[in-house]
Amino acid sequence: MLHTINPEILFLKQEDVIKAGLLDMKQILAVTEKTYAMLGQGLIKNPPKTNTSIPDKENWQSFFNAMPCYIGGDIDIGGIKWAAESKKNATIPGIPYGIDISILSDPETVLPFCILDGTLITAMRTSAVGGLMAKYAAPSDADTACLVGAGVIGRTMISAVHEALPQIKTMCLCDIDVAKAEGIAKEYGDSLGVEIIPTSDSKAAALKSQLIVGETTATKPFMDTSWLTPGCGLVSMHSNEVMEDVFLKADGIVADYWTQLKQHTNPLSKLTKEGKLDESQIMDLSELVLGTKKLRTSDNQFVAAASMGLGALDIMIAYQLYLNATEMGIGTKVNLWDKPLWE
Ligand SMILES: NC(=O)c1ccc[n+]([C@@H]2O[C@H](COP(=O)([O-])OP(=O)(O)OC[C@H]3O[C@@H](n4cnc5c(N)ncnc54)[C@H](O)[C@@H]3O)[C@@H](O)[C@H]2O)c1
Repeated sequence: MLHTINPEILFLKQEDVIKAGLLDMKQILAVTEKTYAMLGQGLIKNPPKTNTSIPDKENWQSFFNAMPCYIGGDIDIGGIKWAAESKKNATIPGIPYGIDISILSDPETVLPFCILDGTLITAMRTSAVGGLMAKYAAPSDADTACLVGAGVIGRTMISAVHEALPQIKTMCLCDIDVAKAEGIAKEYGDSLGVEIIPTSDSKAAALKSQLIVGETTATKPFMDTSWLTPGCGLVSMHSNEVMEDVFLKADGIVADYWTQLKQHTNPLSKLTKEGKLDESQIMDLSELVLGTKKLRTSDNQFVAAASMGLGALDIMIAYQLYLNATEMGIGTKVNLWDKPLWE
């Protein structure tokens, strides 16, 4: 990062962010891997997010999350993801349910140098984490995956799993609303060389697969131990879709960021609080990326992964897109001021 005294901000709207390479899953996965390596090396500060729910946390109709971070090492930037969701938006055509924006700042002069749409970054980074965890969770001979949830994350999860595990040639895409799965399967066609089978029978699909990835909005857990086959790997992106005893059966468990996950309500935090699972049994994704721990040591083991998301990853991806955009001459430049009135 060049320490700047220039009050210029590059504004990247969603179309610019796409032109700058956001949909390039290979690049997003590489940034994701680097982020978790840096997290494990202590180069990232990612304080807990703060939530403002309206009207309140229990009955929220909309909310705003502030997710600040500092990324050190060769990146050296400050940043914040301002992430919001509104239930009302689900009833308004043309507005996404979640709308996110990111700000990147110079850590020395604290001048913001880029503001960009973060809405699609969320989907790409979430599935990239799913793909990365799938790489460690799947047995070495996995050629079939079952993706449960054909929403925004389900769509990008297909390319993330494909990029992370190119040997997987069949993916069942499951949803209680099978039309959504059919639409996404049609959209991909045979562009990835993967057969995408839409279905509403998630359990039957899971029983035929060596890898299960959940990215649903289920309101109560529905994946139980009867979904598992010997040697399979399970990755869950949602805290309310997997039954607690599934994790108790696992030979290896990984969290995307245990420091954060344990502070929220999810099966792993509940099991550790109740003393049914020891914290030492839960690995961090960064430890797998750095090679200091192994999630599975044999293809016969059942292993499980859980994710909640890491704000710093959005900022790492945003910074990569800023670099790409700058090189490509994309975006609109605006000034924070011509001359600050009071210095
Ligand atoms: N871990 C992370 O970093 C992270 C980040 C963003 C979103 N998420 C989570 O990912 C999940 C998916 O988000 P999204 O934006 O794709 O939502 P979405 O609303 O676009 O899609 C969710 C899909 O799940 C389906 N579904 C719900 N219950 C189901 C069930 N029991 N069986 C099969 N399908 C079911 C719905 O029909 C829907 O199509 C959410 O729970 C969200 O909170 C996680």
